[in-house]
Amino acid sequence: MPEPFYLTTPIYYVNDRPHIGHCYTTVVADVVARFERLRRGSAADVFLLTGTDEHADKVVTSAAAHGKSPQQWADQNAEEFRKAFAFMGVSNDDFIRTTEPRHRDRVPHYIRALMNAKGPDGKGLIYRGEFTGWYDESAEAYVTDTAAREQDYKSTIGGRPLVKRTEPCYFFKLSAYQQPLLDLISQNPAFVQPDARRQEVLGRLRPPAVLNDVPVSRPVTDDPATQWGIRIPGDDAHRVYVWIDALFNYLTVVDTPERRRFWPARHVLGKDILWFHAVIWPALLMALKVASPEFAWVALPRQVFGHGWWISEGQKMSKSLGNFIDLERLKAYADRYSLDAVRWYLATQGPLSGTDSDFSHAKFVETYNADLANGIGNCASRVGNMVEKYFGGALPAGGRLEAGQPGAEYDWPSLTRAAGARAVEAMGTMDLAGALGAGADLVRQVDQYINVTAPFKIAKTVESDPNAKTRLGTILHHCAEAVRVAAVLMSPAMPGKMGALLASWGASPPAGARLEAVCEFDGPHGLRAGQRVAKGEILFQRANPADPPPGAGPGTTPAA
Ligand code: ME8
Ligand code: MG
Repeated sequence: MPEPFYLTTPIYYVNDRPHIGHCYTTVVADVVARFERLRRGSAADVFLLTGTDEHADKVVTSAAAHGKSPQQWADQNAEEFRKAFAFMGVSNDDFIRTTEPRHRDRVPHYIRALMNAKGPDGKGLIYRGEFTGWYDESAEAYVTDTAAREQDYKSTIGGRPLVKRTEPCYFFKLSAYQQPLLDLISQNPAFVQPDARRQEVLGRLRPPAVLNDVPVSRPVTDDPATQWGIRIPGDDAHRVYVWIDALFNYLTVVDTPERRRFWPARHVLGKDILWFHAVIWPALLMALKVASPEFAWVALPRQVFGHGWWISEGQKMSKSLGNFIDLERLKAYADRYSLDAVRWYLATQGPLSGTDSDFSHAKFVETYNADLANGIGNCASRVGNMVEKYFGGALPAGGRLEAGQPGAEYDWPSLTRAAGARAVEAMGTMDLAGALGAGADLVRQVDQYINVTAPFKIAKTVESDPNAKTRLGTILHHCAEAVRVAAVLMSPAMPGKMGALLASWGASPPAGARLEAVCEFDGPHGLRAGQRVAKGEILFQRANPADPPPGAGPGTTPAA
């Protein structure tokens, strides 16, 4: 049985409106999950999770501003995220909301286990204390003294002044995990990726850096905003700090007898929240694992991947500039260029490797024309048209070109196999551009092959040359079969268009077929001689770079 594959996105703050950032991480995870389902030939062994983080203080204040209870406000906004991801074609297997009983009731169980456990130094892993620090209300997080000074005591999100707070709280003994974390991250290069992010984390863990204990609770007072959240077991005067609550979602969702096999997870997220995932979360899991035999199964995550940032037309997106690429803008792009094109652009041009990416209309059109309209779209329709014109739409037989014929050097079984292998390898390192590019490059090879073999010229000689028709057929068979493989490799990003193309050629991979077999040239799932290869519709209309960007005016500012 294939090893289960569990992939998570962050759970998003429910008081924000879905924008390109949320859609990006979730589409990236979706592309990986779709690829893994195909690679394994099994949907049952892949589990993709996304959801919403609902116990932030901001939820209470914005709910009040909208005349709603926090729960009503969370319900309404969680629905927006659900709809946004459905629109983006995300195939998540579950959607977790932290206000759901399955999560709310489970978190105190973990906290209690940690409270009862002793740390490596024999003292309690969770202890009472008092915390004083600079709090960033926009980020719902304390900022270290150094960072507070560097950012001029203002929030990096929106610039609200930081607030100095002293409060009683429970601490988690993170300091006891400095060496174990250092060992974990330095000895397992794949654990934190990409490498630039890994080095940053290591820099903050290596002495002389000191790892401080972290608060895991916030006090409950008369202020209604402090009453929203999961209570610390046995102490109603404290609630679980929203970040600790949120991290546990990855565990609560699979903490059932049927789903436990999916653990451990791979986490995809933005670099803004890497520290929580690469340091605090693994330490909590190390602690939980030894806290009680009940949690002996709780292994460390397989990977924490912190991607970079989307900016918009050369500028950082911010509420004050009102230049967020919001869901409406993405919908306008999808309306004009297709949802698959938007997913393709996000997946291949996004900031996965660490450097930030600019969402610009010019870049979008360039990618769209190169890879889609002039790429797979044009190639598929060229090949379909020739099969139609020269063979009445019935795919001719394949075989090999005679040595010495133009194009005979193209070894299609090897070329397609190499493309599949390259995709698998690239996807294994979260190189989505490389993995999907394997399909796009295969299309380019088909285009070159058509240029080299000139089938339209051979077609003119079939009357005079008795071998011409066979040669023409062989060439077109090669083209169609290679385009089929390319479509399969590009399908995790573009399930709609590639699915339609494959279906129109009668070549949809059957459920349960494995990528390796599907990509085999003239293999069990290949095109057969005589099969109808339809001319088909234009998949992607060519885009004019001079057209104004879709969606008028600047992006709509997400609700605070
Ligand atoms: O931090 N470019 O939620 P959040 C790329 N609830 N990705 C972006 C982005 C941008 N400009 N802006 C946002 C939280 N993102 C917590 C997480 S997890 C246990 C709790 C994406 O709503 C990126 O994935 O602020 C980032 O990490 C995430 O949205 C932050 O979402
Ligand atoms: Mg955020």
